[in-house]
Amino acid sequence: PRVLLLHGPNLNLLGERDPATYGSTTLRDIEERTTALGRRLGAEVHCAQSNSEGALVDLVHGARHEDSGIVFNPGAYAHYSYALRDALEAVTGLGVPCVEVHISNVHAREPFRHTSVTAPVCQGMVSGHGVFGYELALRSVLHRVEEWRA
Ligand code: DQA
Repeated sequence: PRVLLLHGPNLNLLGERDPATYGSTTLRDIEERTTALGRRLGAEVHCAQSNSEGALVDLVHGARHEDSGIVFNPGAYAHYSYALRDALEAVTGLGVPCVEVHISNVHAREPFRHTSVTAPVCQGMVSGHGVFGYELALRSVLHRVEEWRA
């Protein structure tokens, strides 16, 4: 199976941005580690990042033809982007599961981060596990893909 590892706004700055909250791992490290784990698990991981909402909508749409599943850290768009929510709802509805990842524990932070408008149309959400959350999410999405295939 092929999995899209997708990152939203400001996550290109990982490693430089607020390391007390997000740690020192860069986006490239996350992409390399997740791709390597995918390879070990028999999956091909493709990576993309955008700071723009419309580009992320297009990337999610593209996954319906290209991918078996999505691991997605939508950044702050998780908290208010109905456009991304609708895109995810459409694509997950076609049988492409998505697991949402937040590196930080969004529930321990400012109240505006406690809401995710995208998580309800995802298979589930992983938050507060640091970059280990990507491993949890990838394993979970592949588990779901295998269940659906069986
Ligand atoms: C984040 C949490 C969001 O609230 C924030 O806007 C981010 C990063 C995380 O990975 O913890 O950009 O998605």
